[in-house]
Amino acid sequence: MKSIVELVEKKPWVGWILYLGTLAAVFGIGLLAASIFERRQESFRVQQVNPIADWEPRNEVWGQNYPREYESYMRTSETNFKSKHGGSAETDYLAEDPRLVVLWAGYPFSRDYKQARGHFYAIKDIRDTLRTTAPLPGTCWTCKSTDVPRVMNEMGAANFYKAKWADLGPEIVNPIGCQDCHDPKTMNLRITRPALAEAMARRGQDINKATHQEMRSLVCAQCHVEYYFQGEGKYLTFPWDKGFSAEDMEAYYDSIDFKDWTHALSKAPMLKAQHPDYELFMTGIHAQRGVSCADCHMPYKSEGGIKFTNHHMASPLQNISASCGVCHRESEENLLRDVHARQDRVKELLQLAQDALAHAHIEAKAAWEAGATEAEMKPVLTLIRHAQWRWDWVAAANAFGFHSPLEAARVLGNSIAKAEQARRELAIVLTAHHVALPVPMPDISTKEKAQAYIGLDMAAIEAQKLEFLENVVPQWDAEAKAREAKLPASDASKSNYPEKK
Ligand code: HEC
Ligand code: HEC
Ligand code: HEC
Ligand code: HEC
Repeated sequence: MKSIVELVEKKPWVGWILYLGTLAAVFGIGLLAASIFERRQESFRVQQVNPIADWEPRNEVWGQNYPREYESYMRTSETNFKSKHGGSAETDYLAEDPRLVVLWAGYPFSRDYKQARGHFYAIKDIRDTLRTTAPLPGTCWTCKSTDVPRVMNEMGAANFYKAKWADLGPEIVNPIGCQDCHDPKTMNLRITRPALAEAMARRGQDINKATHQEMRSLVCAQCHVEYYFQGEGKYLTFPWDKGFSAEDMEAYYDSIDFKDWTHALSKAPMLKAQHPDYELFMTGIHAQRGVSCADCHMPYKSEGGIKFTNHHMASPLQNISASCGVCHRESEENLLRDVHARQDRVKELLQLAQDALAHAHIEAKAAWEAGATEAEMKPVLTLIRHAQWRWDWVAAANAFGFHSPLEAARVLGNSIAKAEQARRELAIVLTAHHVALPVPMPDISTKEKAQAYIGLDMAAIEAQKLEFLENVVPQWDAEAKAREAKLPASDASKSNYPEKK
């Protein structure tokens, strides 16, 4: 066989063809790479087999058009992955650390608090939790379901929040999904929760002007944020007016004298942090370098040569190469070690804060019992409020500080300092009232003992929940099925309602 060199020597034009061909190929590869990169920037339009109606809440109906995204979304039903600190298993945080029961005495979190799991379970978990045995406003449904935009469109956001949680039960049945983040006609990312747009507007920012890369985080910031229920109408509000940091939000809450509850032991006016994932993340290096939530939690995936966004939003540690490998060249072992190193340190500080806070609440209780006055206790209670807010701001955020390790550590350092300062001031009050120090600690070595100590009747709460699950929930589901059977493109057999336990 003739070699290429011989051929080129005899016929020079072959050389030119090879040369130009190579140029074209390199240019083509460059174009392809650019187009892959640019795909993040462009909106995605696809022919829909089954046009999706406005406000269509059923994920399976959207899924008929976008089977890959739908199937990967359905994997949020998996609960088998457990990482060192996170994952999708239903870990019982109160059993793991019963001091939490003391920290939340007088507030429903002391009854039941489990680790978050996939979006698929949002409806099941809010129905099941013992926290929803208390009467609640409609606002509590806001971050759980694709039915929320639909019902808000029908009744208006203010009426939605004001309604009773139980009254909206038959309407809110489909778990978080496509409608929450996408426009049904163009599939562009969109914001469906007014609270986010309103909070940005109060900060002088128009969310409609957000860049595409910003939208890849903002869709998550509809729910993965700190919020509170404002006024009698329980209007969902993000406390961002003064800024995103723990201190800025605290200043906001203090300025309007807001409290979530009065602590049952210390009588401190408490704040409960929700999950300021977006806010904490925004203080970290990844956000500052323009990385979005979707970059790590929704990496691209290839199936049969087709590239799509993996909608199995979960711990990125399940798939380090896809989630981190796009940007980092380190080995998976090293990246995992880096994540754990940050989380372990944050956890160590969280434990110190928890311990100081549990002591502070119990010592304050002893001070009240010894006859301490309001005037003596006021500065102590403010310290406890501010210390626990800072602890909770980090504890309630997901990822054990990985999203912004240095900021998490800074806030926890301040939490510990304030809790210990409260205890020093309490020591003075206790001594003035002739209480011997140290104040003895009760036996709170298990969740059950801690719940008994704060005076919870768990048997009654559990019985009430069982009653609700057996008698009320089936009615809600029956009403929802009847309503949806009348909708177009319905396929009831494919319903993805979470099954009852
Ligand atoms: C640089 C990558 C990265 C980015 C960007 C990122 N995360 Fe994470 N996220 C992680 C890692 C790592 C964990 C820890 C997972 C674990 O411990 O199993 C995590 C954990 C979580 C968890 C808890 C998951 C679990 O299984 O425990 C949630 C919820 C979460 N992130 C939401 C968000 C949101 C919302 C954003 C954007 C505001 C975001 N993340 C941005 C890497 C990232
Ligand atoms: C929590 C928000 C969220 C939910 C819920 C969600 N998506 Fe997405 N989706 C995204 C993001 C972010 C992207 C990436 C968009 C981009 O960068 O242009 C995306 C991309 C897409 C795309 C464009 C093609 C691709 O794969 O990149 C389609 C189609 C899509 N999603 C369908 C769905 C369907 C179907 C569902 C419901 C089963 C759904 N999405 C649920 C956030 C979401
Ligand atoms: C409509 C509200 C809503 C939106 C939008 C939303 N989430 Fe969530 N997310 C939740 C709720 C509620 C849970 C907890 C569900 C449970 O435990 O039942 C959750 C749980 C999670 C978890 C934990 C899953 C696990 O297996 O541990 C991750 C990770 C997560 N969300 C990431 C994201 C990311 C990334 C985005 C944006 C692309 C996003 N979420 C958008 C409400 C939302
Ligand atoms: C889209 C790109 C991108 C992705 C995806 C990404 N990173 Fe990063 N990461 C960065 C950049 C940029 C920095 C900042 C480093 C710099 O500027 O030198 C960084 C910094 C870090 C650091 C050191 C910063 C610190 O203060 O802790 C760690 C650790 C890290 N990344 C881990 C991860 C892990 C784990 C994942 C996957 C879950 C991940 N990254 C995903 C771009 C990315």
